[in-house]
Amino acid sequence: MSDELLYSVDNHVAYLTLNRPHKLNAIDAALDEQLAERWEEIETDPGIWAVVLTGTGDRAFCAGGDISGGTEIAPARVGLGGGLTGIGGPLRQLSKPLVALVHGYVLGGGFELAMCADIIVAAEDTLFGLPEVRAGIIGEAGVVHRAIRQLPHRVAMTMILTGERLPAERALHFGLVNEVVPREALAEAGDSWVERLTAASPLAQQAAKQAVLSRANHPLEVALSTKYEAIEAYAGSEDVKEGRRAHAEKRHPQWTGR
Ligand code: COA
Repeated sequence: MSDELLYSVDNHVAYLTLNRPHKLNAIDAALDEQLAERWEEIETDPGIWAVVLTGTGDRAFCAGGDISGGTEIAPARVGLGGGLTGIGGPLRQLSKPLVALVHGYVLGGGFELAMCADIIVAAEDTLFGLPEVRAGIIGEAGVVHRAIRQLPHRVAMTMILTGERLPAERALHFGLVNEVVPREALAEAGDSWVERLTAASPLAQQAAKQAVLSRANHPLEVALSTKYEAIEAYAGSEDVKEGRRAHAEKRHPQWTGR
């Protein structure tokens, strides 16, 4: 694999870093393919419990889909962001908690990718945006649908219709991001989220994430009356027994994710 996507795993956490700083980490077809392979690996490896996504360089987390060859979708494309956005290919669901650490430009498909995360930490210099209409394009049939679901209606519509950017502090105000930190504190903030996330049972987290996201857009009665396979499977897990034991013994649980 090329070094345009950095990947490592440490202490049950996978770290993915977009590494095309000369192109502001714009995502081309090759990077999409690599991301798709890594999402698959992360999803199927029971030893991975959480994921941190970030971008190298001073200027951008990601300036969107790579438009140097035009905005046409290449036939081999697996979907923007390796399928996680569901744009230009099938939607790939990630059941492990995903933390995005963003800075600088977070535009178009890069904004979509960030919005796939469960937790977003933004550096103070972050600018979120959907620049497509300003360039006379409408994105790839989908770079609009998450903003309207994750921001107040008029804030999202302003971004979609004008291409105006949303700075980090305004994004925090609207609840788009969990916190805003100085650029130099971004990695440390990521470590702190990892610590909080890995204190929980990984299997319980994955079951909860699958359940809540699969029924988020359904009426409450439907969500409540659905049987969730992952939650049912969790009942027989080692983690559930360990949780009970730790509670009885008044100690922190030692999760195994089994
Ligand atoms: N696809 C491909 N390359 C991109 C890119 C993208 N989405 N965004 C930036 N780049 C490249 C530039 O072409 C440039 O490469 P070069 O030095 O080989 O010419 C490099 O990244 C730096 O960008 P540059 O435009 O010179 O920086 P800037 O400070 O003048 O402008 C932006 C920064 C983000 C405002 C500008 O790059 C931009 O508008 N990018 C496109 C964003 C976009 O439309 N995204 C949605 C895609 S559908």
